[in-house]
Amino acid sequence: MSDLELVGLAGSLRSGSHNRALLRACADLLPEHTSLDIVDLEPIPPYNDDLENDEDRPDPVRDLKAKLARADALLIATPEYNHGIPGVLKNALDWASRPAFDSPMAGLPVGMMSASPAKGGAVKAQQHLKLVLLGMVSEVFPHPGVAVGQSGDKFDDDMRLTDETTRDFVRDFLADFVSWVRERSAED
Ligand code: FNR
Repeated sequence: MSDLELVGLAGSLRSGSHNRALLRACADLLPEHTSLDIVDLEPIPPYNDDLENDEDRPDPVRDLKAKLARADALLIATPEYNHGIPGVLKNALDWASRPAFDSPMAGLPVGMMSASPAKGGAVKAQQHLKLVLLGMVSEVFPHPGVAVGQSGDKFDDDMRLTDETTRDFVRDFLADFVSWVRERSAED
């Protein structure tokens, strides 16, 4: 079986982020022959169209776009900020989405996850994210996604995902996601 390379983005910069911890947990829960490279969004500057060209593009954006262009798929874990995705995530996706319809995001398979201390698990952020991804013609994994509610109870003090039910659900989600990505690439 060929190796599959995923890029991971977390929509939160804080050190104790549940979404970053969820993404990190995925590295352990992925099926065999699959790797996950988590890209830190902290160095990505605010989008400026004057800089979105081969001479002026900021290095962190260059790196992000190169990794997405090489990746087989993208996995996103996002919080919900005021019923939408956080600006840092939207900003990174805006950079990655250029040139429109011919960007590393175009046709890229994307799986969505979210986590929130609230019961709903940030599902509204996933709805918003789906709209944003469709705008850049990404291929959104047709699955209800992983929405981790009451996230404060699901991780230990070292931010390891310890809740067994959630671990099982995430493992199953990742297996389904990776199979879907492999089926799609077999069709290409
Ligand atoms: C939030 N939070 C939040 N939670 C939620 O379920 N729905 C919401 O609309 C919002 N809105 C919101 C706005 C802003 C500006 C902040 C800072 C927070 C709470 C949010 O879910 C909580 O801080 C999470 O822990 C953030 O995710 P990380 O940082 O743990 O990954």
